Amino acid sequence: MPSHSFWYTDTNVIKKIYEVFNYITIDPTTSPEANKRVRAEFVYTIDDSCLTTPKWLPDAPDGAVTCYMNPPYSKDCDGTKPYVVKLLEQLDKGVVNAAIVLVNSSTSSSWFQLLMKNSELVCFPSKRLCFDEDLDYVKKYVDPEEPGHGLKTGKAPRYDNAVFLLISDSSYSHYAENFIDSFSSMGSVLKLV
Ligand SMILES: C[S@@+](CC[C@H](N)C(=O)[O-])C[C@H]1O[C@@H](n2cnc3c(N)ncnc32)[C@H](O)[C@@H]1O
Repeated sequence: MPSHSFWYTDTNVIKKIYEVFNYITIDPTTSPEANKRVRAEFVYTIDDSCLTTPKWLPDAPDGAVTCYMNPPYSKDCDGTKPYVVKLLEQLDKGVVNAAIVLVNSSTSSSWFQLLMKNSELVCFPSKRLCFDEDLDYVKKYVDPEEPGHGLKTGKAPRYDNAVFLLISDSSYSHYAENFIDSFSSMGSVLKLV
């Protein structure tokens, strides 16, 4: 399995997400190690897949349910599309109220177009974001013969990124104001109509 499915979000990006949400209720695509930094209250990992769970949170917690998702990219982890489709389903059901999604800026992909159609805002970072690799998961799942095997911090992917904000309904539009305030320093923020 290619190691880029295990890339951690940079702490500078995590700080910005906290400026928008204050807290992260759920990270549906993560590992225990990655969640030491993201600090979501609920998580799914490769071992208890978010894709096979009908409702990510069976019991609604008090307050808005916020989600941060940096999905796997490789075909071995089903590619990005099923994770985007699953998140949209959770927003539609009201299980998730607001989500920030960090993906490759793969504008012609069907899943990218789905995000464009269903998001409030998107930020295109003016500099390529860096990621850190998840050593535990790389050791467990990645073929040691694969070039680039091992822990590396501050890795820059070959692709540019995009950061989307999605909300389940207009009662969560205050997150859009926070997103503009927080992410404008990272790159252009566009409103999607
Ligand atoms: C790009 S990493 C992001 C990690 C973390 N959310 C972050 O942003 O730092 C994607 C994560 O999804 C996990 N993963 C892979 N397949 C999954 C699945 N079906 N359900 C939940 N997590 C999965 C991988 O193990 C990996 O930790």
